[in-house]
Amino acid sequence: MNTVRDFARFKAEGHKISIVTAYDAWSARIVAHSRVDAILVGDSAAMVMHGHQTTIAATVAIMALHTRAVARSCAGKFLIADLPFLSFRKGISAALTAVGALVRSGAQAVKLEGVDGHEDVVRRIVGSGVPVMGHIGLTPQSVNQFGGFRVQGKNDADGAKFLRQAHALEDLGCFSIVLECVPAELAARITSELELPTIGIGAGPNTDGQILVLHDLWGLDPSHAPRFVRRYIDGERVLTSALNEYDADVKEARFPGPGESYS
Ligand code: KIV
Repeated sequence: MNTVRDFARFKAEGHKISIVTAYDAWSARIVAHSRVDAILVGDSAAMVMHGHQTTIAATVAIMALHTRAVARSCAGKFLIADLPFLSFRKGISAALTAVGALVRSGAQAVKLEGVDGHEDVVRRIVGSGVPVMGHIGLTPQSVNQFGGFRVQGKNDADGAKFLRQAHALEDLGCFSIVLECVPAELAARITSELELPTIGIGAGPNTDGQILVLHDLWGLDPSHAPRFVRRYIDGERVLTSALNEYDADVKEARFPGPGESYS
């Protein structure tokens, strides 16, 4: 997947879309060598890379820094970057400055959370030639309003709100929407009603694609285990055991060996 047009094509052809996050050059290089379709430089970087409890600490400068690092080695994989907390809520001019920083850093598209109250911003970004990915459901930048990271859209009123927001984002010209932590049935309904592809995370199997945080699927933080994550490798155990082997080799004088030294 190289361009925004591939998203529509994948949905039309019934091909599921796979996306992962990346925040740095070395992991982006690995993703670039995989068959995963696209990369998101998520504002989850604030949590995964910087150790914060929420994504709220991400700034435009932080997102631009991570986007530049990923863009240097993602080898043409479609690259989306997150507009961080409040960066698109301070008026159109401030939002476009933030978009400019991310696109000039190498993003081909931006993602932003919610829609109510910033419809004009979404319209202006799309109208400025920058593809926009929407994001509804559990929008982590609103974690304080939700009172924690909890499934959204469980009652009829919330379900109807997300359905309306999904249609609004489509009408505003978004190329895709992330549905995060909503009941599978609601995600399936939104997916069937929209022409644009939906990308789920904790939204069940009936979306047009899935996104996972790379470090979750690599099992790099066992303390973070939401129900929707599938770990494909016990990364923490594998990496820790490599470190312990190195430690033992150093301490028992097995490293470096003759082939690892200069004469
Ligand atoms: O920041 C992020 O990683 C995200 C995805 C998990 C959707 O927004």
